[in-house]
Amino acid sequence: AFAIKRGLSSSASATPRMLNGHTLAPTANHSGNAGMKILAVLYKGGEAAKQEPRLLGTVENQLGIRSWLESQGHEYIVTDDKEGPNSVFQQHIKDAEVLITTPFHPGYLTRELAKNLKVCVTAGVGSDHIDLDAAVERDIQVLEVTGSNVTSVAEHVMMNILLLVRNFVPAHEMIERGEWRVSDIARNAFDLEGKVIGTLGAGRIGRLVLERLRPFNPKELLYYDYNPLPADAVAKLGARRVEDLKDFVSQCDIITVNAPLHEGTKGLINADLLKHFKKGAYLVNTARGAICNTEDVAAALKSGQLNGYAGDVWNVQPAPKNHPWRYMKNPLGGGNGMTPHYSGTTLDAQARYAAGTKQILENYFQGKAQEPANIIVGVGKYESKSYGQR
Ligand code: NAI
Repeated sequence: AFAIKRGLSSSASATPRMLNGHTLAPTANHSGNAGMKILAVLYKGGEAAKQEPRLLGTVENQLGIRSWLESQGHEYIVTDDKEGPNSVFQQHIKDAEVLITTPFHPGYLTRELAKNLKVCVTAGVGSDHIDLDAAVERDIQVLEVTGSNVTSVAEHVMMNILLLVRNFVPAHEMIERGEWRVSDIARNAFDLEGKVIGTLGAGRIGRLVLERLRPFNPKELLYYDYNPLPADAVAKLGARRVEDLKDFVSQCDIITVNAPLHEGTKGLINADLLKHFKKGAYLVNTARGAICNTEDVAAALKSGQLNGYAGDVWNVQPAPKNHPWRYMKNPLGGGNGMTPHYSGTTLDAQARYAAGTKQILENYFQGKAQEPANIIVGVGKYESKSYGQR
């Protein structure tokens, strides 16, 4: 509420812009505006954010850029209120020049809302909350802090794979209940060594996951991606590309999803594809919830077609209390490794994406070129090859 109030009151301030009683000189920037409205949609951190200032991606700590932005005469609105036409997000998006959102609590930029914006910055990685086609048509640049949290996610994938294969969650819950029945756990616990593991999407995160899997001595590492891995990566990782999706999933004991959400991946993992998975395979999805069909995954886990499903991304965020993925289980009562969306927002990651966001803004204000890897949509065209084959 503090951030929202502050944002709204600053939006009401008269021109010329004042800061601490001083009139600010107009600042040159790429748009030619003296001071621009920058709108950030972040998640509420509550007590945790007050106690831990390194929680930079919260409405309370505001990516650590408020005083820097205000010192240059810009108006900075920060909110977590993003749903509906009366939300702070939808009110201020009308005349904001820059939108900053995090994938952890995204402000959904639809075609209707994308009218006057010039730049969208994703504080993190993954820009599916933006209508990218509309951004192309309207010359809105879409920039990400590419690479800022790929290690964080790859580590989380490793944890998810291990906790499913080793049946960790039911084992820990048993301990908390005061019980001790080793066979109830061991009957569904395996080693990772000797398994066939595949990544759907072999970009930055997929490749890091393959690198981290190699020392576990898998039987084979596979990948499915329309962009082939570079030759040096194939040589280093020994990963084999499978070009047909059904063929790919039918060979894997464990599948990790590391592709962005776009029209080619939405609902890709559904009942039809799950039939082609090996019986009792494990599925880990830290990419985007909507890549998997919610009901079909829950049914596959219930029937034992999947032995486990883990990840941190949901088709709706925050996930409602009755979301099936909160409670779904395999026939033995385990196999669920779901968490809230946090794999890419460790404190290490927050430091990197906050710094990267600031750098992107600085480049924009000064009319400097952006880091090519950070450009998803440049002026009028897709620059990234990751959001579908175009
Ligand atoms: P990247 O752009 O480096 O790699 C994505 C890869 O997916 C590319 O090689 C692309 O060709 C491939 N791909 C796209 N469509 C595909 C399809 N239909 N089938 C197979 N492969 C396909 O992106 P990066 O950094 O590896 O991130 C991947 C995704 O992970 C992000 O877009 C985001 O959605 C998610 N992510 C999740 C986080 C979390 O906190 N859970 C944090 C960071 C990223």
